[in-house]
Amino acid sequence: MALFGKNKSGSNSDLNIPVHVGIIMDGNGRWAKKRGLPRKIGHRQGAQNFRTITKYAKQVGIKYLTFYAFSTENWRRPQEEVDALMDLFEKYLDEVKDFIEENIRIRFIGDRTKLRPSLQDKMLDVEQTSKDFDSMTLLLAINYGGRDEICHSCRTLAQLVKDGKLEPEDITMDMIEQNLYTQEVPPVDLVIRPSGEQRLSNFMIWQSAYAEFYYSNILWPDFKKDDLDKAIVAYNDRNRRFGGV
Ligand code: IPE
Ligand code: IPE
Ligand code: MG
Repeated sequence: MALFGKNKSGSNSDLNIPVHVGIIMDGNGRWAKKRGLPRKIGHRQGAQNFRTITKYAKQVGIKYLTFYAFSTENWRRPQEEVDALMDLFEKYLDEVKDFIEENIRIRFIGDRTKLRPSLQDKMLDVEQTSKDFDSMTLLLAINYGGRDEICHSCRTLAQLVKDGKLEPEDITMDMIEQNLYTQEVPPVDLVIRPSGEQRLSNFMIWQSAYAEFYYSNILWPDFKKDDLDKAIVAYNDRNRRFGGV
């Protein structure tokens, strides 16, 4: 299909582009298994695809793109696989130069205190380097869990109450939201989950309260630009009511 970036005017004015898209990168393991390869090869292939789709999303005009890379539950995997994933994240952070050339701001969401220090250092470094870039904001969810995030926000507010700076009855939804990892990021408009699973798996449960969902049977490493086009076209057929009529 290749709807985007190819029309002569270079614009997609006929389509409503979601401001914030979340992608649950799933199916790397099955992709590898189908080929008789170790799961970590699937993750490598998935990471490669993450790069391609990120650049394309920017061309399409998506302003915020969040990738679910590692959940708070993924620690349950064999140590060898967890280590391979962490190695891959570090390797990618060493190579984010091309995103920097593309003027893409990079932010990380999740509890980074549980990650290895060398990875934490690289995350800080990349965030610092890209903080003024504004073509698109890329959020990488590493050791991220929606429940953990809400819990973290509640703890911050509880401390304010304890310190006498806030009354419990004055707590608002806005305050909870402002203490999530996604401060200053608009809510998710579209959640895309490849690989055939139809669940959130603890991804942005607060932020996607009114998101549209797009599921595909394609495994993440095989998810192409055309598939992103299809998701956006499907999104354009949705009637978002936000509780109204
Ligand atoms: C998603 O692929 C990547 C991570 C969760 C890190 P999976 O590893 O979950 O792949 P499947 O679901 O086993 O195929
Ligand atoms: C969700 O995928 C997490 C990420 C893609 C990072 P999982 O493969 O971990 O989800 P479940 O276990 O199938 O729900
Ligand atoms: Mg999976």
